[in-house]
Formats: sequence, C-alpha cells, structure tokens
Amino acid sequence: MAEPGRKGTTTGAMHRDGFVVAALVAWLGLIPVAAPSARAADSPANTLSDGDKKCLTCHASEGMTKNLGNGETLALRVHGEAFAKSVHAPLGCAICHAEINLDKHPGAQRKIETRRGYAVAMIEVCRTCHEDKFKLYEGSVHASLLRAGIPVAPVCTDCHSPHSIAPKAAGQPMKAVACRKCHETIFEAYAGSVHGLARGKSAESPAPLCAGCHRAHDVGAPSVGDRLRNTCIACHGGTIESHQSWLPNAERHLEVVSCPACHSPGAQRKVDLRLYDGVSRERMVEKKGVPQFEDRARSADKEGDGLDAIALRSLLKQFNVEGAERTTTLRGRLEVRTGVEAHQLSDKSRAVSNCDSCHREGADPFQSVTVSIVGADGRPLRHDAQKEVLNSAVSVESMRGFYAIGGTRIKLLDVLLVLALLSGILVPVGHMTVKWLFRRYLDQIAKQKSLENQTAEPARGGDTPGKQ
Ligand code: HEC
Ligand code: HEC
Ligand code: HEC
Ligand code: HEC
Ligand code: HEC
Ligand code: HEC
Ligand code: HEC
Ligand code: HEC
Ligand code: HEC
Repeated sequence: MAEPGRKGTTTGAMHRDGFVVAALVAWLGLIPVAAPSARAADSPANTLSDGDKKCLTCHASEGMTKNLGNGETLALRVHGEAFAKSVHAPLGCAICHAEINLDKHPGAQRKIETRRGYAVAMIEVCRTCHEDKFKLYEGSVHASLLRAGIPVAPVCTDCHSPHSIAPKAAGQPMKAVACRKCHETIFEAYAGSVHGLARGKSAESPAPLCAGCHRAHDVGAPSVGDRLRNTCIACHGGTIESHQSWLPNAERHLEVVSCPACHSPGAQRKVDLRLYDGVSRERMVEKKGVPQFEDRARSADKEGDGLDAIALRSLLKQFNVEGAERTTTLRGRLEVRTGVEAHQLSDKSRAVSNCDSCHREGADPFQSVTVSIVGADGRPLRHDAQKEVLNSAVSVESMRGFYAIGGTRIKLLDVLLVLALLSGILVPVGHMTVKWLFRRYLDQIAKQKSLENQTAEPARGGDTPGKQ
C-alpha cells in the first residue's frame, strides 16, 4: 500500500501472464471454454487490428487495476467484444490513446491523481471529432455544475462508456438510459408515467426518453424559460386548441400553470414567484461572482419563517436600487413541488380539469409559496414565502396581475374577474375594459398601501383588501 503505483504494475503483470496462458489454451482449442481465467480474458474479436489486439492482450484481463494518487483504483479492463461491436471500433485504440507509447508502456507509469480528474481530462479526446456535441454540452447545466466544482456532474463518458458505444440504430431501450444512474428517483417516476409506460413496451415508441424532453447535451434548467414547455407543445400538436375547448383563456393558463401541475394528478402544488426583470423581459439572473439573492432573502426574512409581504417588498426594493427605477417585478407560476412529481404524468382521463381545485378560497396550490431567481449556474434559487403574500396588495402590486380568481382572496378582484369571464370571453373588448379597471384598482390599493406603510409599523403585511 505504501507504493500504490508499483502495486498496480504487479497486478497488471500478473494478469498479463494469466492472459497469455489462457489465450494460448483457447488458441490451440484444447479446452473450449474452460477455467474462469479463460473466460475472464474474453478473446478480442478478430475484426480488430493487430495493434488493438496487442493492447487487449493485457487490457482484456479481469480485475486489472491501477492505484491512483488519492488511494482510489482505476479498473483497466476493456471488453474486447463490446469494443469490436462499438461505433468506434474502426478507429482503434491508438486514436484516442495517443498518450500511450507502447515502447514505454506500462513501464513508464503515468501518475493519475483521481478517477474523476482522469475522466474530465480524457473527454478532451471526444472534442477532436465531436466538436458540435462538445459545444452544446459546454452550454448545459451539467457543464456549469462541473465548472462550479461539483464533481458528480456528468461528462461525456458518464453517459457514453467510451469503449462500448452501441450504434444509435440499435434503438434506445429504457434500461440503457444514461441519466438513470444519477437521477434514479426521477427515472422511477418517469418509468411509471404515460411516456415511460409507452416506452417500456417498445423501444421504438415515439414517447420521449429523458433526452426527448431535456435534450441530451445542452440540458437546461427545466423550470427556467419556455423551452421545455415548447418541447411538449411541439410534440403534441394542437395542445392550446384542445385545452381551449374547455378551459377559458387556455393560452394564459398554459403559460402560468406548468403542464405537470394538471397532468400529475397526485402531486402537491405550489406557487413560485419569480423575480422578473422588466427591462430585459426575462427572469432575473444572479450576477456572476456576486451572489446576492440568498443573502438578501435571508436578511429580509430574519425569523426564517418565510418572507412576508413587507419583507418581499423590501427584497424587491433592494433589487430595484441598482437598475432603472422599478423594473423588478414578480411573475407567478403554479407548479408541482418536487422534481419527482414533475415526472408522474398520467393519461388525460386523470388530469385536473376541475376549476375549483385552483379557483376556490384556500385552494391547496396557494398554500405554499416560494420566491426565486436564476442562480449563476443556471438553476433556480428559491426562498420560502408566507402564503399571505398572495393576498396582500403590497405584493399583488408587484405581481403583474398573477391572480387566480377565488384562489387568492381579494374579493373585489373576484367580482371584476367574474365580469371578465362573463363579458370578456364572449367579447374580448369587454375583457380589455375590465382589465383596465383592474389595473386602476390595483394602482389605487397600491398607493394606499404605500402610504400606510410609511406611517404604520410594518407588522401586518398580509392584509387582504377584500377584508377591509
Ligand atoms: C504489457 C501489458 C500492456 C499492454 C500491451 C498495454 N497496456 Fe495499458 N496498462 C498496462 C498496465 C499494467 C497499466 C497500469 C499502469 C500503472 O499502474 O501505472 C496500464 C495502464 C493503461 C492505461 C491507464 C492510464 C495510464 O496511462 O496508466 C491506459 C489508458 C492504457 N493502459 C491503455 C493502453 C493501450 C491503448 C494499449 C495499446 C496501445 C495498452 N494500454 C497496452 C498494461 C498494458
Ligand atoms: C473513442 C475514444 C477511445 C477509444 C477508441 C478507446 N478509448 Fe480507452 N479511454 C477513452 C477515454 C475517454 C477514457 C477515460 C474513461 C474514463 O472516464 O475513465 C479511456 C480509458 C481507458 C483505460 C483506463 C480505464 C478506464 O476504462 O477508464 C484503458 C485501459 C483504455 N482506455 C484502454 C483502451 C483500449 C485497450 C482501447 C482499444 C481496444 C481503447 N481504450 C479505445 C477513450 C477511448
Ligand atoms: C477520431 C474521431 C473520434 C473520436 C476521438 C471520438 N469519436 Fe465518437 N464517433 C466517431 C465516428 C466516426 C462515429 C460514427 C459516426 C456515424 O456512424 O455516424 C462516432 C460516433 C459516436 C457516437 C454515436 C453513436 C451512434 O451511432 O449514435 C457517440 C455517442 C460518440 N461517438 C461518442 C464519443 C465520445 C463520448 C468520445 C470521447 C470519448 C468520442 N466519441 C470520440 C469518431 C470519433
Ligand atoms: C447527460 C448525458 C450525456 C452527456 C454528458 C453527453 N451525452 Fe452524448 N448523448 C446522450 C444521449 C442520451 C444521446 C442520444 C440522444 C438522442 O438520441 O437524441 C447522445 C448522443 C450523442 C451522439 C450521437 C448523436 C447523434 O445524433 O447521432 C454523440 C456523437 C455524442 N452524444 C457525443 C457526446 C460527447 C462528445 C459528449 C461530451 C462533450 C457527450 N455526448 C456528452 C447523452 C449524453
Ligand atoms: C454522472 C451523473 C449524472 C448523469 C449521468 C446525469 N446527470 Fe443530470 N445532474 C447531475 C447532477 C449532480 C445535477 C445537479 C443536482 C441535481 O439537480 O440533481 C444534475 C442536474 C440535472 C438537471 C437540472 C436540474 C435543476 O435543478 O435544474 C437536469 C434537467 C438534468 N440533470 C437532466 C439530466 C438528463 C436528461 C440526463 C441524461 C441525458 C442526466 N441529467 C444525466 C448528474 C447527472
Ligand atoms: C415528458 C417530458 C419529460 C421527460 C421524458 C423527462 N422529464 Fe425531467 N422534467 C420535465 C418537466 C416538465 C420538469 C419540471 C419543469 C418545471 O419545473 O417546470 C422536469 C424536471 C426535471 C429535473 C429537475 C428536477 C428538480 O428538482 O427541479 C430533472 C433533474 C429531470 N427532469 C431529469 C429527468 C430525467 C433523468 C428523465 C428521464 C428518466 C426525465 N427528466 C424525463 C419533463 C420531462
Ligand atoms: C389547467 C390544467 C391543465 C394544464 C395547465 C395543462 N393541461 Fe393538458 N389536459 C388537461 C385536461 C383536464 C385534459 C383532458 C381533456 C379531455 O379529456 O378532453 C388535458 C389533455 C391533454 C392532452 C391529451 C389531449 C390532447 O390535447 O391531445 C395532452 C397531450 C395534454 N393535455 C398536454 C398538455 C401540455 C403539453 C400542457 C402544458 C403545456 C398541458 N397539457 C397543460 C388539463 C391541463
Ligand atoms: C417526443 C414527443 C413527446 C414529447 C416531447 C412529449 N410527449 Fe407527451 N406523449 C407522447 C406520446 C407518443 C404519447 C402517447 C403515449 C401512449 O399512450 O402511447 C404521449 C402522451 C402524453 C399524455 C397522455 C395523453 C392522453 O391521451 O392520455 C400527456 C398528458 C402528455 N403526453 C403530456 C406531455 C407533457 C406535459 C410533455 C412535456 C413535459 C410531453 N407530453 C412531452 C409524446 C411526447
Ligand atoms: C391548476 C390550477 C387551475 C385550474 C385547474 C384552472 N385555473 Fe383558471 N387560473 C389559474 C391561475 C393560476 C390563474 C391566474 C392567471 C394569471 O395570473 O394571469 C387563472 C386564471 C383564470 C382566469 C383569468 C384569466 C385572465 O384572463 O387573466 C379565468 C377566467 C380562469 N382562470 C378560469 C378558469 C376556469 C373556468 C377553469 C376550469 C375550466 C380554470 N380556470 C381552471 C389556475 C387554474
């Protein structure tokens, strides 16, 4: 153990000798498939070049390892048969392993510190031939996590074992899903979903695997932007029209309610209030190198029991100081609480169609609220808020009208919305009028509130104007 490097060599040498014997035995046809040692060193397919076969005289041996600087071991076995069938077989070992010089190998030991470091360094060889995929990958959340120092984030070879990449034409069976080993609980939820069940029956099914929704290389943060939703809609042509047949203003609903919020019927739901930049018209993103959101949210929420309306307002103010006046607002979105629930999509007969499940006083999606921003690594950062912020004029004012009739308890708004329903749906112009009335109403209560806040002690932020 004192000299790990040397020990590795000994192991390798032992196996090499074992292989030579076994190969001779097999070659002479003396014992067809005999002792375990013979099977361990599976004979490389004859299609491989002599150079490759040479590498495999040693590297086909089972149990061959190299000891690394940090005490880990690197398994050195390469399955010749699998390699011979892989897409890269025609390339041969040497193209990717230019670092190996057989005149010195394995004698001149190369020092490798960690398995992970080795894997990360080695993917550079993929770049030489797959520049396009490499570029996409570099823009993914996975790559940004890796850059942020998260070692478990995947590189090419976590999803494509370099010595056994099967041709795509072989289909993509569920059990081979590359994402599974790191996202097991999500995989299980997916496998039981309408898509997973269809896919489980046939690898040829048009139902998406993970990459069918998230993409394989430029995997983005799912809850950021419209990309994922647009992927669903692109595959399910006519989604908006089909929902419009029973859901008023379907377009708006499909914008502010995530698909799983209705299509994972057992899921718990919540409201996420996103900081939104009125100038760029996009979600606010943390400035690189100067993370502020978590600190500001924590200092606004001193008790740690969730931001109340006053705290939320002061948080918004802090974000507004730097930019142009009053550009940061909030955009609400109704979504499921966990990543696992987002994958429990079931068939349409079980989807939520009951208006009451959202448009009712105290409806459950409005009992849990978070406030979020996009972190520097592209993933959202969230902070809990008290559910009362949804009823508070103080925050409604900055919410750009995210308001579900009945779901939040501002009574006068409900009356206006019912009017909107009655007139607006039939006559869009009427709808606009009511919306305009709405705006005025909101402006009014906002003004009133800010006056109150300047004079009164900031204890009760959760007042509902409806109750006044
Ligand atoms: C004589 C047996 C033998 C042959 C032939 C051989 N290797 Fe190795 N290889 C080893 C041993 C032993 C190690 C472990 C070295 C150590 O522990 O430092 C190793 C290590 C490696 C490693 C791990 C990284 C490193 O640099 O240590 C790679 C990659 C590798 N070999 C590739 C190849 C390729 C490609 C060929 C053919 C061009 C080849 N080897 C031929 C025995 C062999
Ligand atoms: C398409 C490029 C490519 C080809 C072709 C290739 N390798 Fe590799 N090899 C890699 C990469 C990348 C790694 C690093 C894998 C990792 O993350 O551990 C690697 C690692 C290894 C290792 C270290 C153990 C391991 O699996 O990490 C050995 C030994 C090795 N290769 C031998 C071979 C032999 C022998 C052949 C030919 C039969 C071969 N390689 C062909 C890309 C290739
Ligand atoms: C020397 C060039 C070269 C290098 C280096 C290389 N590849 Fe390839 N790769 C190819 C070729 C050629 C094909 C076959 C393309 C085809 O059939 O259309 C291929 C195909 C693939 C496929 C597609 C299989 C399929 O049919 O869908 C994957 C995945 C892949 N390579 C991954 C990698 C990874 C990961 C690495 C780095 C470990 C790598 N490649 C390194 C040349 C290379
Ligand atoms: C998170 C997992 C993951 C990572 C990381 C990953 N890939 Fe892939 N890759 C996939 C999946 C899944 C597919 C099949 C996608 C599909 O069918 O659209 C694929 C397909 C490919 C293909 C074949 C594309 C085609 O259209 O035929 C190539 C080539 C490839 N990957 C290379 C790479 C290279 C190079 C890297 C590293 C820069 C990499 N991959 C990193 C999951 C990954
Ligand atoms: C080697 C491990 C590994 C593999 C393989 C892997 N991932 Fe990841 N992935 C991670 C880690 C670690 C994170 C960051 C922590 C988290 O969100 O779970 C992550 C994050 C993600 C995220 C962003 C989650 C967020 O919070 O916004 C998505 C989406 C994702 N992965 C999809 C995939 C898909 C699709 C595949 C297969 C094509 C895949 N992953 C394969 C390790 C992996
Ligand atoms: C039908 C499309 C679809 C498929 C297939 C799919 N996902 Fe997702 N995934 C989603 C949606 C939708 C979300 C939630 C987006 C949101 O927050 O609005 C999500 C979220 C995620 C997240 C982030 C979870 C979190 O905690 O925020 C990860 C990681 C992820 N998916 C990985 C996977 C993996 C791995 C697979 C394959 C087993 C997979 N997805 C298959 C649609 C899909
Ligand atoms: C407000 C709840 C709700 C939301 C949000 C929602 N759906 Fe639906 N969806 C339903 C209901 C209920 C049905 C069943 C209607 C029926 O039986 O005719 C349905 C039916 C479907 C169907 C099957 C019928 C068809 O259109 O082919 C698909 C596919 C579908 N939805 C996809 C989506 C996608 C994609 C999203 C997100 C962009 C989404 N849904 C958002 C409630 C919703
Ligand atoms: C690659 C195409 C594709 C993508 C992307 C996709 N789906 Fe599907 N989806 C299908 C197919 C195919 C089926 C039919 C499965 C079956 O029943 O055989 C299906 C079924 C469904 C159903 C059940 C419809 C019914 O009639 O009962 C719902 C709901 C659904 N998808 C929602 C979504 C949502 C939400 C997303 C995005 C998060 C999404 N799909 C992304 C292909 C896709
Ligand atoms: C999953 C929860 C959910 C379900 C189910 C749902 N809604 Fe909504 N609805 C919302 C949310 C959230 C809003 C707020 C939209 C906004 O801020 O613009 C909304 C907004 C509305 C609006 C106002 C639209 C506008 O123009 O701004 C009307 C009208 C409405 N819903 C009617 C209905 C009816 C009728 C049903 C049943 C057929 C229904 N909703 C089902 C969540 C839901």
